[in-house]
Amino acid sequence: MEQFKGQPRLPKFAIPKRYDIRLKPDLSACKFAGFVSVELDIVADTRFIVLNAAELSINLGSVSFSSDNSPKVFEALKLELVEEDEILVLDFAETLPLGLGVLAIGFEGVLNDKMKGFYRSKYELHGEKKNMAVTQFEPADARRCFPCWDEPACKATFKITLDVPSELLALSNMPVIEEKVNGPLKTVSYQESPIMSTYLVAIVVGLFDYVEDYTSDGIKVRVYCQVGKANQGKFALSVAVRTLDLYKDYFAVPYSLPKLDMVAIPDFAAGAMENYGLVTYRETTLLYDEQHSAATNKQRVATVVAHELAHQWFGNLVTMEWWTHLWLNEGFATWVSYLATDSLFPEWKIWTQFLDESTDSLRLDGLAESHPIEVEINHAAEIDEIFDAISYKKGASVIRMLQSYLGAECFQRSLASYIKKHACSNAKTEELWAALEEGSGEPVNKLMNTWTKQKGYPVVSVRVKDQKLEFEQSQFFSSGSHGDGQWIVPITFCCGSYDKKKSFLLQTKSKTHDIKEFLSDSNKSSIAHSWIKLNVDQTGFYRVKYDEDLAARLHYAIENKYLTATDRFGILDDSFALCMACQLPLTSLLTLMGAYREELEYTVLSNLISITYKVGRIAADARPELMDDINLFFVNLFQYTAEKLGWDAKQGESHLDAMLRGEILTALAMLGHEETLAEASRRFHAFLNDRNTPILPPDIRKAAYVAVMQKVNSSNRAGLESLLRVYRETDLSQEKTRILGSLASCPDQGIVLEVLNFALSSEVRSQDAVFGLAVSKEGREVAWTWLKDNWDLIVKTYGSGFLITCFVSAIVSPFASFEKAKEVEEFFASRAKASIARTLKQSLERVRINANWIQSIEKEKNLGEAVQELAYRKH
Ligand code: BES
Ligand code: ZN
Repeated sequence: MEQFKGQPRLPKFAIPKRYDIRLKPDLSACKFAGFVSVELDIVADTRFIVLNAAELSINLGSVSFSSDNSPKVFEALKLELVEEDEILVLDFAETLPLGLGVLAIGFEGVLNDKMKGFYRSKYELHGEKKNMAVTQFEPADARRCFPCWDEPACKATFKITLDVPSELLALSNMPVIEEKVNGPLKTVSYQESPIMSTYLVAIVVGLFDYVEDYTSDGIKVRVYCQVGKANQGKFALSVAVRTLDLYKDYFAVPYSLPKLDMVAIPDFAAGAMENYGLVTYRETTLLYDEQHSAATNKQRVATVVAHELAHQWFGNLVTMEWWTHLWLNEGFATWVSYLATDSLFPEWKIWTQFLDESTDSLRLDGLAESHPIEVEINHAAEIDEIFDAISYKKGASVIRMLQSYLGAECFQRSLASYIKKHACSNAKTEELWAALEEGSGEPVNKLMNTWTKQKGYPVVSVRVKDQKLEFEQSQFFSSGSHGDGQWIVPITFCCGSYDKKKSFLLQTKSKTHDIKEFLSDSNKSSIAHSWIKLNVDQTGFYRVKYDEDLAARLHYAIENKYLTATDRFGILDDSFALCMACQLPLTSLLTLMGAYREELEYTVLSNLISITYKVGRIAADARPELMDDINLFFVNLFQYTAEKLGWDAKQGESHLDAMLRGEILTALAMLGHEETLAEASRRFHAFLNDRNTPILPPDIRKAAYVAVMQKVNSSNRAGLESLLRVYRETDLSQEKTRILGSLASCPDQGIVLEVLNFALSSEVRSQDAVFGLAVSKEGREVAWTWLKDNWDLIVKTYGSGFLITCFVSAIVSPFASFEKAKEVEEFFASRAKASIARTLKQSLERVRINANWIQSIEKEKNLGEAVQELAYRKH
């Protein structure tokens, strides 16, 4: 049996075709019993059958194999459950006949509390505590529910039967065909599924209410919510119905199952999961409450639903061949969710907001410890960590780059043919490129390999010389060093206006480009002061470094509102990245930020705000004596927009203004702006007396909560107590996370510690604790001590999932000294864990980048005067 151990993938001598699975969960004892018969094709001589299983007890006597080509039943003589490899090796002692046969296995398992495999989630109904039984199989946990070939390429059909308490609702991927009640238990059987991967199988057993509707093709769509809360499912339902119709047109293939159910699960590790026909969600990503959800919650629900439904085609119908191609699933679903959301809600300008996704991935991918989009996977334990910003956000960004290069129409046509070709089957990255290459005639494979097979991305430096533009690419690192990666970069640029856009592929290290053509006879000389913007609309996955002269022209163009929001975003974001990499003085960054004083666009301003948070933290370490002026500058920077928006929603105002108001007031609260704090406190008190008060609508609650926490300390705890009361009294998950996300912004260290302990208490579901980790700069050290003190407990609760990485990155990354990096490294040296290895390295790299940045800011000579000038500038 040794030959089967330590292998990344299962041997290929038996191929599963059809699973017949029967499960009997016991919700009070939290265990389950099961029986599976798998139709197999034995394709090579073997006396072994090797499949996946984990945390199951299997009785040797229950294992048998009967072949179509032999009258006798083969009994397994030996079985071994190999824990490290999560495999079950069955030894039948004689060679099994080739061809079809059925493998039968009886087993038992535990409904665990780890939010994976077949698990237990808790809820309350009329004050009574209840359990529900739920599955979460991606990436590799179906094996915790039934023995199976748990790899995405091992597709088969599934016929499921459940024995459950009669009063409960039992859902699976397919519609029910029969329900037989037998006293306290009932047997529910479901239609056989089409061919699909194991990670998409799902079961939910509990009590729910639902709302339902039909697509234009008559597919029944339901949203299941907590009992009594069906109204909260209406928004997601309408998004789902419209999105299914839209994808059917976009992919030119109809939705392939007879029904779609979507369920909110109280305990849920990911944001949502695209199980075929039975999509599961956290409550926050599915439920929308007219009274108490904010615009940002609404948007989240829409994009998550659009993302999961995209997987019904991209992922479920056509599945990645192996986890190396996970990005195909996730990057693509992310990209398409924007397409769908944009079509449903054009007023949200969701493609402008997409820049947040690109930026997140540019930040992660600027680290030496990043990884390529296509990443080698040798063990199931390595899969969790690649559900990261590279697979999702860089994946989506390079797809956007390619779509914009090939054109929307050609892109869609080629995609539809890719879906058609690989439907009910699997595909690799190069097969997507092949379809696009065929549809476009462009060298897609060659172009895209430079983006998916190597990590990182280029910074393109540009300068004007003799009416020519000189471009040069080099690999960008946030640390300021340069790598030797090279890419095929689709360059675009505009000169003085958006009327003419120039584009070419930069295939070498450098290139010059004539710009005479931009000059009409009359303005030949005006090139000298016309703006030039590269990466028009920010569709390319690269950063741009302008020479001083070009940067000054762009600054002028921003102030005079010549540029689009996406381009304003890009210039700011690239400048921030270059500043952090010590390639642009902080003085220059702050001066540029001053050009955004009259910015009103949500996405641009929201990035400006997050930059002020980061710069504020670094400057507080590097130049504490300048902080008063820096904070004053930031407050002034937001004044114009804050006054325009006010505290109260305008009649019929836009979704984006509602979101922006929340962010701007939160920022002013974080900066300790007294007027904001006072007004917030007034409104918060009205809210405490009446949770429906019109003066504290959901869009500004987070700002009020943060403001309240700024004044809390050990001798003034009232604000904290009130917030905890609201937390305990609400049954809306979005309200709870809004509060959790505000508490640790308190500047008082003792309070931060208390908040962190609260996050780990039984009052916070373990999936939500991470929201409590948004710690103020004053609380940084306390949080680290707390992490060390609680590490064993955290490992115990989170050690087997991806949430544990959030603890490391949230608490370690804000540090900014080499000594601290060393201390963190030493602490974890004896606590190494494969599941946090990459995150830890990335977080440490960030600490060292911060430390470098501080050193460079300490040396900046004229920073003090510049800050003063910016802070006291009159407008
Ligand atoms: N397939 C994922 C769910 C998942 C994530 C399973 C991680 C296993 C590990 C799902 O489609 C997804 O991407 N969910 C996102 C939400 C999405 C809108 C970005 C998530 O969970 O964050
Ligand atoms: Zn996804």
